[in-house]
Amino acid sequence: MYPERVVSGMRPTGALHLGHYHGALKNWVKLQSEFPCFYFVADWHALTTHYDESQVVEENAWDMVIDWLASGVDPAQATLFMQSRIPEHAELHTLLSMITPLGWLERVPTYKDQQEKLADRDLATYGFLGYPLLQSADVLIYRARFVPVGEDQVPHVEFMREIARRFNHIYGREPGFEEKAKAAVKKLGSRKAKLYNQLRTRYQEQGDEGALESARALLDEAQNLAAGDLERLFGYLEGGGRVILVEPDVLLTEASRLPGLDGQKMSKSYGNTIALREDAESVTKKIRTMPTDPARVKRTDPGDPAKCPVWQFHLTYSDQKTKEWVQAGCRSAGIGCLECKQPVIDAVLAEQAPMRERAQKYLDDPTLVKNIVADGCDKARELARETMREVREVMGLDYS
Ligand code: TRP
Ligand code: SF4
Repeated sequence: MYPERVVSGMRPTGALHLGHYHGALKNWVKLQSEFPCFYFVADWHALTTHYDESQVVEENAWDMVIDWLASGVDPAQATLFMQSRIPEHAELHTLLSMITPLGWLERVPTYKDQQEKLADRDLATYGFLGYPLLQSADVLIYRARFVPVGEDQVPHVEFMREIARRFNHIYGREPGFEEKAKAAVKKLGSRKAKLYNQLRTRYQEQGDEGALESARALLDEAQNLAAGDLERLFGYLEGGGRVILVEPDVLLTEASRLPGLDGQKMSKSYGNTIALREDAESVTKKIRTMPTDPARVKRTDPGDPAKCPVWQFHLTYSDQKTKEWVQAGCRSAGIGCLECKQPVIDAVLAEQAPMRERAQKYLDDPTLVKNIVADGCDKARELARETMREVREVMGLDYS
């Protein structure tokens, strides 16, 4: 019914680091050639925790978009936009809030976890509780098929699926649904209508998943039908009402976890990051002073890579041969730690060189970035408006 869209967002928290690159951005770059991708700056989400620093959000937002572009996110392929420029997200969030049980929000694991972790902030706000609901609106408004996120965000995608299901359940059951669905079947044309009915029966009577898939594929190709009729046919197929909001699936970002310089999670608050576009001298110094296996006090003391954060960097950056060289050299004290770090330094600098180069043109001319985002906003807004028209229609809010 809808192209297999991918939607993902990132909060503008300041300069991005290599953890963001390996944990998310690299995957965004890969996906942009496989699906229509919508990547946005979740600036309202930044306010859920940092409402008292709202003045820095804008600068962080533009910096972050430059980091995306530096990483290889390509505005000719992906749509880049800013959440707050599409107020339809807020409208959908408000309407969804009416049908969202408080218990569902309170039970999202990140709610209590984050409150404990950020204990220095007062997060007993509605905005913070509603974080996953705003995120749901971000995704559902584009009827996305996939949401690429890390492990920690899986409950949020689960949550948005439940919200979509609840919305469709409440508002997809229009009066005379059955008759309208049957009329829509006829509009497929006699050959496809017959096939649709057969597949539907096979699915509903025998639970044949293959038949369900085939019927969906048939509908994907039924371009001549109005959106409302397609929604009815998707719903009728499974025995429900209209499918107005699509339940998205998680696209788990393959865990190529790059920890911080000290071996903990790479995070600005731990002061253990390497920024995406950090200058070569500073990167070199940071890696040269990275802690290593504490057993290697003297050059002649053997060590164990498993106890060393430098080894984690080799896992991300080094080829098989280098890794074997590290394993053998560390355990036999055949190599020194500085020697061991050199291939990592070289690889990080090599990864960053094209990033710095790509960023330069945007740093020289910031209007380029603003134009990219303005174009992206226009594209996103058009889709968001279309969804909202239907949402209002099924809720009976399209007053004229
Ligand atoms: N919660 C996400 C994060 O912290 C950011 C985000 C906001 C998001 N809205 C989204 C991610 C929609 C995916 C889809 O990383
Ligand atoms: Fe770490 Fe390499 Fe030193 Fe071993 S030789 S402790 S892996 S830096």
